[in-house]
Amino acid sequence: MKVSSSAARALMWIAGVGLFLSTSVSAKAILGVDLGSLYMKVALVQRGAPLEIVTNMHSKRKTEQMILFDQGTRFYGADASSLLARKPTKTPGGMSVLLGRDEDHPSVKVLSERHYPIIPVYNETRKGLNIPIDGGKQSYSPEELTAMVLHYAEEITHHYGKEKGNTYGDITDCVLTVPSFATQAERQALLDAAELAGFKVLSLIDENTASALNFGMDKTFEEPQIYLFYNMGASSLQVSVVKFHSYEVPESKYSKKMKRVGSIEVLGKGWDATLGGMEFDNRIVEYMADHFNREWRKARGHDKDIRDIPRAMTKLRLQANKVKHVLSANQEIPVHVDSLHDDMSLSIQMTRAQLEELCDDLMERAVAPVHSALVAANLTLDDVTAVELIGGGMRVPKVQSGLAAVLGEKELGMHINSDESMALGAAFFGANISTAFKVRQVGLTDINPFPISISLENLESDKKTSNDKEVWSKQATVFKTNGKIAVKKTIAFTHDEDVHCALDYAEPETLPTGSKPELQRYKIKGIAGFAKEMEEKGLGKPKVSLQFELSQSGITSLIKAEAAVEETYTVEVEVEVEDDEDKASNETGAADETTERKTEETKDASAETTEQSTEEAEKADNETKAGNATTDTEKPKKKTKMVEKEMKKTHKKVLDVEEYHVGKIQPLSKELKEEYKFNIAELARMDKERMLLEEAKNQLESYIYKVKNKLSDEEEMISKISTEEQREELSKLTTAAEDWLFDEGDSADVATVKAKYEELAKPAEKVWFRLSESTARPEAVQALKDKLKETEEKLNKWFEGKDYITDDEKADLASKFEAARKWVADKEDEQAAKASHEDPAFSSEEVPGQMQPIMKLVTRLMKKPKPKVEKQDTAEKADNKTSAEANETVKTNETEKVESPSDEKDAAEETVPGGEEL
Ligand SMILES: *[C@@H]1O[C@H](CO)[C@@H](O)[C@H](O)[C@H]1NC(C)=O
Ligand SMILES: *[C@@H]1O[C@H](CO)[C@@H](O)[C@H](O)[C@H]1NC(C)=O
Ligand SMILES: *[C@@H]1O[C@H](CO)[C@@H](O)[C@H](O)[C@H]1NC(C)=O
Ligand SMILES: *[C@@H]1O[C@H](CO)[C@@H](O)[C@H](O)[C@H]1NC(C)=O
Ligand SMILES: *[C@@H]1O[C@H](CO)[C@@H](O)[C@H](O)[C@H]1NC(C)=O
Ligand SMILES: *[C@@H]1O[C@H](CO)[C@@H](O)[C@H](O)[C@H]1NC(C)=O
Ligand SMILES: *[C@@H]1O[C@H](CO)[C@@H](O)[C@H](O)[C@H]1NC(C)=O
Repeated sequence: MKVSSSAARALMWIAGVGLFLSTSVSAKAILGVDLGSLYMKVALVQRGAPLEIVTNMHSKRKTEQMILFDQGTRFYGADASSLLARKPTKTPGGMSVLLGRDEDHPSVKVLSERHYPIIPVYNETRKGLNIPIDGGKQSYSPEELTAMVLHYAEEITHHYGKEKGNTYGDITDCVLTVPSFATQAERQALLDAAELAGFKVLSLIDENTASALNFGMDKTFEEPQIYLFYNMGASSLQVSVVKFHSYEVPESKYSKKMKRVGSIEVLGKGWDATLGGMEFDNRIVEYMADHFNREWRKARGHDKDIRDIPRAMTKLRLQANKVKHVLSANQEIPVHVDSLHDDMSLSIQMTRAQLEELCDDLMERAVAPVHSALVAANLTLDDVTAVELIGGGMRVPKVQSGLAAVLGEKELGMHINSDESMALGAAFFGANISTAFKVRQVGLTDINPFPISISLENLESDKKTSNDKEVWSKQATVFKTNGKIAVKKTIAFTHDEDVHCALDYAEPETLPTGSKPELQRYKIKGIAGFAKEMEEKGLGKPKVSLQFELSQSGITSLIKAEAAVEETYTVEVEVEVEDDEDKASNETGAADETTERKTEETKDASAETTEQSTEEAEKADNETKAGNATTDTEKPKKKTKMVEKEMKKTHKKVLDVEEYHVGKIQPLSKELKEEYKFNIAELARMDKERMLLEEAKNQLESYIYKVKNKLSDEEEMISKISTEEQREELSKLTTAAEDWLFDEGDSADVATVKAKYEELAKPAEKVWFRLSESTARPEAVQALKDKLKETEEKLNKWFEGKDYITDDEKADLASKFEAARKWVADKEDEQAAKASHEDPAFSSEEVPGQMQPIMKLVTRLMKKPKPKVEKQDTAEKADNKTSAEANETVKTNETEKVESPSDEKDAAEETVPGGEEL
């Protein structure tokens, strides 16, 4: 690639990932956010930096997807999770898993089965889940909670940027990851959450696809390669079969040189929507709970179940996760949970063998999706080059060995930083979509595993049936199984009634358990009216075209609905004839009228059909017009005749579409979105208030320590400018403020804390002031005296030989010197009359200003022009006199002015009576 040097500077090569970032656009940041189900990862694309993972306030590369609602404000990430065991009912987590699902969904039901402290409840009004916080004192939808987490992702990024000296303005553009089996309801709920957070989602992307993109974006494969991406996360397992290959394209539009471009194609997907790391954890939890119950019941003689104690179960879950991780690397671990409940501790020994036995039945589930993904791709294991393991769940040794057994010789690759590849891939994907970035050319195609169909029937089907007519209906698959996404498809049919269109998953049994098959419902109106209109014109039934889109984000919708009728008609058009046919010229005149009439008709028709006329109609229009023009202007020149021609014209009508939803799970209504946005803003306000309050308290606290320290550290100096009484008063105030801060101050508001600060700061600052002034003031006075003397001397020298400085001006200057000296003398007297512990008569700050009147006058004198030598001037002036006599005085002035700058320069160079130092 050849670029000019300035262009080369404007294009920065981003090491490692092959990003070209153009500096011609304003600074911009795009986020790739992988919410995960427990931990969120955020990747950042920005100008002049490599694609990178954003570290959070605790310098961690992943952030707990968790919020603690406490005392009216929110805490995120580690700040929330560190208090999870103490405040389990106030700390919802993993909210993104609840998006677009109902309480019967396995991933939701599992929360009550596993005795989580917070159980989502279905809300009929909302048509979705709500999550009660603190036993129902507050309640939020998964969309709201996810919006808060996403908003926190933005905050983390700002914080990260600030640490590196970057500011991004508003960060809104992002790409979010979703599981490959996410349904439309789930995807839509995530998009709604992002909207609530103020994000602009460039696209959603499947987790594995993002991972594959991150893996392949800087590689070129000479030969096509099939990779298997095996991704066991915390709550689910996804397997994707991906083909990497490359092809040649010209380097640029104008170049014949070729370059290789990588291409990534997702061929098949398999999954187990509920098998993840948490399932393994849960087996350990169950084991520990059973063990504790036995001991507990034996000791207390009851048959209670520890599973009913949310706080204890939260502790066990945290412990189980640790146990699982330790057993991934070790054969054995002692497990101890101190005072788990009822003054009893849990103390056991666990081995890896035990864990494997507990999870034995999961192993089969762990490999099944490998097969289904291959089937979907119509490939066998033999076609697979290598397997890449991603996600945390695959760290379980048994899962790896189970996989290895199935995959045989295949290498189990762990080249990808498994926790981060999804976020990084998503960010790269976003940069590719955004026009603000120029990225390495890589092709990517993804597929949709669930076929989508429509069923059509008449909107007013009841009337029809009573009429004994056959009920009209139609079914069609719009998007087939494993078809490409980011495509449009049009369904067309001939019909004369308004229709109802239901968009659904065609094979609900292929969806993950608990998913709902309904996508969208549409009432399509305007067909009947249009059909009638056409019938009156003697035309046939309209052809209805419905265009559907399966977007890059995996959302299917009706994007265009039109009805059209084609009309065939004839026009007479003028055609040129051979020169020798004289008669022709005569026909032209008569034909002219017909042509004109036809034009009128065409216009009429196009007005009726409301929409833009089709090409044929336009052409007819043009031709007739052209015919007109010829006959009008150059009748005699061209010999033409009129012939009849068959024309086609399409009458079109854009149909009215009213969309709505059905089913148990529905996307947020407009009103609800507004309500949620308001709630979130309100929470943000309260968070901010808490931050300000904390700041004010910190400020007061550190001031208290400052006063204390200063009073003891600088005791000697302070005693010179204060009385014993003053010092004692200050000391008392300090102690009082400290006591207040840790007592009433705890619940005080910002204003009160600030008032308390003032109460202490006012007398303290007076003391500090006297302390600093006790040296600064005499220094300033001395400096002024010196300056006065020095300036006066320099001026006297400068006056030499400058007769144009008048005596009056000199006297004026002298009086100003006098005034300054008098001010100093007076102030010194005044101060001498004061005690050192009183407020001083003047401050060091006022002193230098006394030079100002003097310097102002000096500057003016320096600018005063030298008297000029008048010679040519007069001659020139005389020349101009006649032309502008009335303006003579003005002109004269102007002439003088013109000359003065040179004088000024002279003066400046000659310099300078103390001027530059002042
Ligand atoms: C259901 O949701 C609506 C809308 O958010 C809310 O006003 C209502 O209070 C909720 N009902 C319950 C029982 O939580
Ligand atoms: C699957 O692959 C085989 C062999 O490559 C091919 O013959 C067959 O048509 C493919 N089936 C489908 C449904 O694509
Ligand atoms: C990048 O964008 C181009 C143009 O839209 C598209 O053809 C290509 O598949 C995209 N690549 C990736 C990695 O998203
Ligand atoms: C023009 O047409 C008229 C009748 O339509 C005919 O009488 C006349 O002769 C024609 N003139 C020429 C020049 O062909
Ligand atoms: C008709 O003419 C207009 C401008 O005169 C032009 O823009 C348009 O493309 C023409 N249409 C056809 C069908 O030739
Ligand atoms: C006289 O007039 C001419 C042009 O009008 C101008 O260029 C010149 O500066 C004038 N001279 C004086 C002395 O104003
Ligand atoms: C005098 O000068 C001013 C500004 O240069 C001009 O607007 C005005 O017309 C002049 N008057 C005459 C009488 O030339």
